[in-house]
Amino acid sequence: MEVLVSGMRPTGKLHIGHIFGALKNWKEYQDKYKSYFIIVDWHALTTNYQKTQELQEYIKEVMIDYLAFGIDPNKAVIYLQSMVKDVAVLHLILSMIVPLSWLERVPSFKDQIKELGKDIATYGFFGYPVLMSADILAFNASIVPVGEDQLPHLELTREIARRFNYLYGDTFIEPKELLTNTPYIPGFDGRKMSKSYNNAIFIDDDEKTIKEKVMKYITDPNKIYKNSPGRPEICNVFSLHKAFENPETKEIEENCKKGTLGCVECKLKLCNIINNFISPIRYKRKQIEKNKDDVIDILKEGSKKASEIVANTLDKVYYKVNLKGNLIKN
Ligand code: TRP
Repeated sequence: MEVLVSGMRPTGKLHIGHIFGALKNWKEYQDKYKSYFIIVDWHALTTNYQKTQELQEYIKEVMIDYLAFGIDPNKAVIYLQSMVKDVAVLHLILSMIVPLSWLERVPSFKDQIKELGKDIATYGFFGYPVLMSADILAFNASIVPVGEDQLPHLELTREIARRFNYLYGDTFIEPKELLTNTPYIPGFDGRKMSKSYNNAIFIDDDEKTIKEKVMKYITDPNKIYKNSPGRPEICNVFSLHKAFENPETKEIEENCKKGTLGCVECKLKLCNIINNFISPIRYKRKQIEKNKDDVIDILKEGSKKASEIVANTLDKVYYKVNLKGNLIKN
């Protein structure tokens, strides 16, 4: 079975954007690949090192979201990055062979500094993609499902693998990205759904909250009256009907265009769809929350399994770079 690795930063509760951007696919992949899903808390530190008070809480919430959604620890290994410390050692060794110019070329470094401020212009954040490479190469993964924004990081991972293999002999597989077309998920202010924009519908939002949020969505600004014809192709609410694969999507599209469907009614339909989708997850979430310790046990168990694989990789790497040899064996 091919090995797949993916990760998510624990920056808070997960929302609908995460479902369509990752979780829905992960749930399928866990049946097809030997999957490792990482909660990358070291990566969270690279951008949020000044505010770590809630990190533990976030890790737990993300884990509950994964389990409630159906990521299954019997099928995939779910683990916490910081519990598998050998990945940091691999990161250190890889950092020796990565030319500065390669990292300077990665667009996310400059882009994120522009967006988040120069407080994140640190050594650790500069090395973000090397750490991500270590996450992937530690398992010799061949498949990495990521969003388009992560493609430069994956390209770098391949370059690092190639350079390591060139310097020390064949060791790492060059991993390939797995891009699935994910639908665009707008938040209720029309921008991309994101926790930091405060425009997200969370997996554990209750029915009332979902309704309040859905009612805020901006629809086609030209559709002034209930019976004005609308343009579904530019409507945020319509994007969501499509994403959730509402069986009425076609009808909604036609009736909106004709002006026989008003936005309020259309939004109420969407509330129903979202609720039907989320309510079993919300229910499962509540059940899981009752036994929080179990959640952490699952994470520890996964981290133990991951540690064994990574220790093995690191052992090979130590030999390759002559940190182990005739004299020093262990
Ligand atoms: N950088 C990824 C993101 O922000 C998260 C990540 C960390 C990751 N390590 C990874 C993704 C390894 C895939 C594989 O989305």
